[in-house]
Amino acid sequence: MKEKIIDIEIESYSKKGHGVAPYNTSKIEVVGSAIGDLLEISLRGRKKRVHNGHILSIKKPSSLRVIPKCKHSGVCGGCSWQQIDYSQQLKIKESQIRDLYKDLEDEFTFLPIHPSKSHFAYRNKMEFSFSQDLKGNKYLGLIIAKSRGKVENIENCHLVNPWMSEVLCSIRDWFEKEDIQAFHAPSAKGTLRTLTMREGMRTGEKMVMLTISSTPEYALSKEQLLSFQKQVLNISPNATVFLRIHQAIKGEVTKFYEMLLSGKETLQEHLEITAYDQRRKYIFEISPTSFFQPNTFVAEKLFESALEICELNKDMTVFDLYSGTSTLGVVFSPFVKNVVSIELNPYATFDANVNIENNHISNMEVIQGDVGKTLQDPSFQKKYPHADLVIIDPPRTGLDQSAIQNILDLDAKQLLYISCNPNTQKKDLETLCHIYKLSVMKPFDQFPHTPHVENIAYLVKK
Ligand SMILES: C[S@@+](CC[C@H](N)C(=O)[O-])C[C@H]1O[C@@H](n2cnc3c(N)ncnc32)[C@H](O)[C@@H]1O
Repeated sequence: MKEKIIDIEIESYSKKGHGVAPYNTSKIEVVGSAIGDLLEISLRGRKKRVHNGHILSIKKPSSLRVIPKCKHSGVCGGCSWQQIDYSQQLKIKESQIRDLYKDLEDEFTFLPIHPSKSHFAYRNKMEFSFSQDLKGNKYLGLIIAKSRGKVENIENCHLVNPWMSEVLCSIRDWFEKEDIQAFHAPSAKGTLRTLTMREGMRTGEKMVMLTISSTPEYALSKEQLLSFQKQVLNISPNATVFLRIHQAIKGEVTKFYEMLLSGKETLQEHLEITAYDQRRKYIFEISPTSFFQPNTFVAEKLFESALEICELNKDMTVFDLYSGTSTLGVVFSPFVKNVVSIELNPYATFDANVNIENNHISNMEVIQGDVGKTLQDPSFQKKYPHADLVIIDPPRTGLDQSAIQNILDLDAKQLLYISCNPNTQKKDLETLCHIYKLSVMKPFDQFPHTPHVENIAYLVKK
């Protein structure tokens, strides 16, 4: 398509948070814009019925605009809302959730969105990608918005603490100097895939993991691995360093193998939870591939609200489904008779058992397996015939048919559904609401400057 220059006004946001303006019978999406912006844009490329516009000049800025802190804002796909005032971001997220549920007949209590106290340096985990172009230029950073995998060389990511940006720059220097190629997915050639960093926000512990391809001819030499470690440890001497081998064979399930290069095997994080007038500190060990809520301080508030919203007593059995390292199970355990966690990832299940022991909990058990399959397993049903409260915290994709049916068959009085994807959550709630009534909903802003929002829904049996 030939380049076209036009003026537009942004009227709404896409699912990914980009500004949207109407254009003839279709739409234009503009990265880095805000509702109310009057923009001069160039129109390139066309994807289905949506055009991509690139800002040439801001003719009249939206009243929602602020100056982004990050120099990569407007390009990097990591945050799309740094140009929007934080209080407005909260309003947008809250109204998006309200809109999503406006057709639900049940009347329920909608509690205001909980903001993140820190607007920057709030993420405890970040994954950066390696890439290379045909000229051999090397990149390590975040995927450029609407670019289909092109990587922006990030110098300073404000969503994480400074040490992560320092390690990022140092590993990019290493990548540029060494004779190592980035992994190229279409040809399956090359070595380096991603650089993942994690941090215990309450402990200061650090973890760095380099993910590489499994093809033997692209393996790293011992010297290259040692020089990688040296680059990390020069900046962060106590960091745990892992190498992860990513084995993707056509027609087979992708496998990962982690090798500890230096430091300890897990990252420790603490959660400080106040509930029922008691303040408790919980300790969690997290393996490199185990899930942990990405914003520790907002997760604490989310868990406190969950404890407050549910009706708990010491005779209750709680099922903690999609439990990860059993964070929710652990924080609920002091207030109920017993908790049963179910989690697929064996490493997270292992961590969960360590966490139960380290937090001196005696009324919890963890089962490793798929939620749908485990709930219909006769031996599980015999051992755990009844649940009073079911906590559901699935991945972004939501619940599969077997899980949803087996959750309904549990016939629990209360359900608490926590989700980082309100759209799949809404779809699942439509089915659950045949038998349950939505009672309370509360969003949490775990992800400032992005359109993502965490949402909890509390349901009671009709
Ligand atoms: C959003 S995380 C929630 C973790 C935990 N509730 C927390 O707050 O830390 C979703 C978890 O579901 C697990 N998972 C994904 N598919 C699953 C399945 N089919 N059955 C059981 N667990 C699954 C993932 O490994 C991940 O730990």
